[in-house]
Amino acid sequence: MPALTRTPPPYPSRRPEVIEAAIRVLREGDWTRLEGAPELEADLAAWHGPGVDGRETIAWYVASGTAALEAIMLGHGLGPGDEVITTPYTWGATVSAILAIGAIPVFADVDPLSGLIRPDAVEPLITAKTRAIMCVHLFGHPCDAQALRAIADRRGLLLFEDGSQAHGARLHGTRVGAFGHAAAFSCMGLKLLAGTEGGYALFRDPVAAEHAYLYGRHPRGLAPDRAQALGAAGLLDSLQLGWRPCAIGAALVRAALPFLDAENAARQRNAAVLRRHLADVPGVTLAPELPGAEGCYHLLSLVHHYEKTGLTRDQFSQRLAAEGAGNFHYIPVPIHRLTRLNPHDYAQTGPRVLWHEQLVRAGVDYRTVSCPGAEWRAPREVTLGFNWTQDDPEAMAQLAEAIRRACDG
Ligand SMILES: Cc1ncc(COP(=O)(O)O)c(C=O)c1O
Repeated sequence: MPALTRTPPPYPSRRPEVIEAAIRVLREGDWTRLEGAPELEADLAAWHGPGVDGRETIAWYVASGTAALEAIMLGHGLGPGDEVITTPYTWGATVSAILAIGAIPVFADVDPLSGLIRPDAVEPLITAKTRAIMCVHLFGHPCDAQALRAIADRRGLLLFEDGSQAHGARLHGTRVGAFGHAAAFSCMGLKLLAGTEGGYALFRDPVAAEHAYLYGRHPRGLAPDRAQALGAAGLLDSLQLGWRPCAIGAALVRAALPFLDAENAARQRNAAVLRRHLADVPGVTLAPELPGAEGCYHLLSLVHHYEKTGLTRDQFSQRLAAEGAGNFHYIPVPIHRLTRLNPHDYAQTGPRVLWHEQLVRAGVDYRTVSCPGAEWRAPREVTLGFNWTQDDPEAMAQLAEAIRRACDG
């Protein structure tokens, strides 16, 4: 008999206000808006607030989180040959965005239990070619962006945050996205702030934002005075990268934003209950949070200690599924070990890969890179969806029991 009888509320939450907002666009709105989503951008800038350096936030809603990542890097003038220090333990889009702009990802190791980038692993990797640090707030958990900003400021680098899994998570009371010179968030429909597809960039430097607009804001969607100035400088053209957002997705995101803090708070309370129940289960560790962090639990990532359970990862995963707790292997291979990042061995096995030439030109060989924390965690990771957006202590007790039974058999 599976231990789980309770199911989470539907996700995305499908509130009537949110559905109505999309219907309004379909009925009366413009299905494409060349100016993008200015009302949503104003709401996002207000919700996120200024950066930790006191500068105002400029939000730009685009087609995806990946587009937002590319926008913040291109806007700040990053490109071929530049090195960006990032984490090997993330959804690959963080890294493919770096590769897509011609830059070189340099991998700093992570804490093995949390999977979050370690600031002390970043500093030794800085070279004359390093332009930026790209950190990731994985699973909804803030990484130590405060320490990373201190490193960036001291070493004259830019800090970028990938907050795609952590809208609203806080570190020392400040929402993630405020620590960096710029930040990127995904709003695809599985995220904490869910649209259809979409994402947004947060800039603090208006010049960087405008440089990014040249790649992805329709020339007719720019403010008339800026369009005129850019046109006079010969910069206004149709060399666009396809970042224009979907108007229906933007309406969904705008209508969902006012509910996000309450949903995140319920996720946090549920996770705290679950964490208490799991405290005496030696076979698993729930990804820990940093001191001062308020994570918002986009995903529930467990480390399965096979040395203690005597089970393989797959056996544990199957037993958990049999208890009714569907799960997946979110990062089965750390990014620096992916076949497509290895031009040396890949040549015969697949089609031409965009970034191989730049990696070879830069003399990068990820086979020689070692990130023991990421390599330790990947084969032990078991991840569950966690869309418990309403308090449900009974469901958490059941989930903990399911995990305990999967460990003990
Ligand atoms: C950490 C991270 N970065 C980037 C992305 C890319 O976002 P999108 O799928 O909207 O392009 C995602 C999600 O898909 C993500 O989880």
